Amino acid sequence: MTIKIAVAGSKGRMGQLIIEEVHRFEDLELVAGFDILGVGDPLGGGVIVSDASDLAEVLRRSGAQVLIDFTTPAATTENVRVAADLGVDLVVGTTGISEDLKKEMARDIDGRVAAVISPNFSVGVNLFWKLIEVAAKSLEGYDIEVIEAHHRNKMDAPSGTATEAVRVLAKATGRSEVVYGREGQGLRGDEIGVHAVRAGDIVGDHTVLFAGPGERLEIKHQAHSRQAFASGAVRAARWVASVPSGVYAMADVLGQK
Ligand SMILES: NC(=O)c1ccc[n+]([C@@H]2O[C@H](COP(=O)([O-])OP(=O)(O)OC[C@H]3O[C@@H](n4cnc5c(N)ncnc54)[C@H](O)[C@@H]3O)[C@@H](O)[C@H]2O)c1
Repeated sequence: MTIKIAVAGSKGRMGQLIIEEVHRFEDLELVAGFDILGVGDPLGGGVIVSDASDLAEVLRRSGAQVLIDFTTPAATTENVRVAADLGVDLVVGTTGISEDLKKEMARDIDGRVAAVISPNFSVGVNLFWKLIEVAAKSLEGYDIEVIEAHHRNKMDAPSGTATEAVRVLAKATGRSEVVYGREGQGLRGDEIGVHAVRAGDIVGDHTVLFAGPGERLEIKHQAHSRQAFASGAVRAARWVASVPSGVYAMADVLGQK
């Protein structure tokens, strides 16, 4: 059976790749795309970019079953509400969403649709989160630094992937203090240090460095292209259409939980 897919942010870096990926599969059909830019532009298969303000009407008319959203925090919060009202399942990749807005989204989704929400849809990063958890539990007392690098157009810092890494590390070690960048005088404490590099066209690098007496261990993931995220998001879309309502992580899709 074909799954009908709609994409919000269809003119964006991720949206365009996701649409290419959807067109590659016979069991998926692109039925709508939304953006605030390029309205009316063709997206393939006879679908054109719809104005984001027509989301509810076009979702209803197109019979979309899953909305994949890679936009902005404000747009995503609104899109999730509209899709959940219409019973359309969700795949949400937007990062930089505040804790309050995440709670609001979870309330909108609750009991009505299934949603996979992840700050990173790559298979490698989902394993990276597991590996750093194991390392953090084993390397007791080691200093921990999270270093991420992204392209110059990224809006949020630190990345959603780094923020999730910090959450995993804090839970594994019981450390609650996080220091973002360092400047001036003062010794390091027991904190988790976080550093964000923004430069050129770096797709996404994440390193967690554990350093103790006489040694250090670095666990590093580098995305070579956005294809890793697009493939994961489309895999999540196929999966989310077949599960009961609720909020899921990419680890659920990958069977890592
Ligand atoms: N979860 C992941 O694996 C992953 C991977 C890469 C990027 N991201 C995140 O996805 C988001 C998008 O990244 P990008 O690099 O594609 O950005 P981008 O700026 O290239 O694309 C975002 C698109 O959303 C559109 N948009 C804005 N408001 C909209 C609305 N109300 N409705 C529909 N479209 C709207 C913009 O016009 C733009 O075309 C960012 O938050 C980024 O951090 C997540």
